[in-house]
Amino acid sequence: MSHAAERRADYLLGHAALEQRRLLVQASYVRSWTERLLRRAGLTEGMSVLDIGSGLGDVAFIAAEIVGPGGRVVGVERDPDAVEVARGRAASGGHTDIVTFTNADLTEFDPMCPGLAGDGPVVSDGPRRPFDALVGRFVLQYLPDPVAALRRLAGFVRPGGIVVMHDMDVSSRDVSSPPCPLWNDCYALLADLFRAHGIAPDFGRHLTRVFLDAGLLWPDVDSGTMTGGKPGSTVFTWLGSAVQAVEPLLRQAGIALPDGLVVDDELAATLERAVRDDRSMVLGNTHHGAWTRLDRSG
Ligand SMILES: C[S@@+](CC[C@H](N)C(=O)[O-])C[C@H]1O[C@@H](n2cnc3c(N)ncnc32)[C@H](O)[C@@H]1O
Repeated sequence: MSHAAERRADYLLGHAALEQRRLLVQASYVRSWTERLLRRAGLTEGMSVLDIGSGLGDVAFIAAEIVGPGGRVVGVERDPDAVEVARGRAASGGHTDIVTFTNADLTEFDPMCPGLAGDGPVVSDGPRRPFDALVGRFVLQYLPDPVAALRRLAGFVRPGGIVVMHDMDVSSRDVSSPPCPLWNDCYALLADLFRAHGIAPDFGRHLTRVFLDAGLLWPDVDSGTMTGGKPGSTVFTWLGSAVQAVEPLLRQAGIALPDGLVVDDELAATLERAVRDDRSMVLGNTHHGAWTRLDRSG
């Protein structure tokens, strides 16, 4: 494997087409929650925003709608295919005046150093701390040292600026009521996979501590859990697409699938039938948002 391919592969969930589909499904159900989080954190018109681990661009596009034409959003993403998709979506959504996507690794990204900032037009000159806000969704938990990364990236935010992180918790074992064994077993696969790769499945719950350890001020926090069960509910596509996207990784990690489970495009429908038969209410992932302002004295 080339050096570049090796580095891309070490994002746990990979970058295959199924993962891209999973990201889009996830983005659609969590969109309104993320938007509310960013607004509550203080994102507003005219701001400059750095979106880390921008994936297919969904958070950057929400930020772009908030900051408007007088603002600017830079998405940083390591996967070149995702960057290409994000740029295409920016063009078709009319966001190109506000949003740019840069193909770079967060551990090296430096807005002051175009070579390390990847290939996008980032910040050619300007202050050392060029952003009003740092945002990231479902990315901090995948970084090898989230505290060090947050400390470094917050260093690109001006004094008094905003840091907002949005991460998840898939550690619960009590995710259907009355219990739907197939739902519970499929859900548990996600936490098992995280653990197998040394990632805390309940990372989102640790955001306060991560912020404090990174030297930031005590954050405000908010949480939400996707909930459903009614036929047609998004929870089915969420879990179905997630298990389908990670199936090869589950096998590699030696994590056994529930007996008789067929993982294909029908999985969401299979889950829906099982939940309907058990007349259950089911939970999807719990997500946590944390936000704070940097000390005004810098
Ligand atoms: C779960 S996805 C979330 C994408 C997007 N933030 C969203 O919520 O739709 C995490 C993204 O972070 C990216 N990523 C992970 N580690 C990275 C790193 N070290 N540098 C840049 N991007 C990284 C992955 O490639 C992936 O696209």
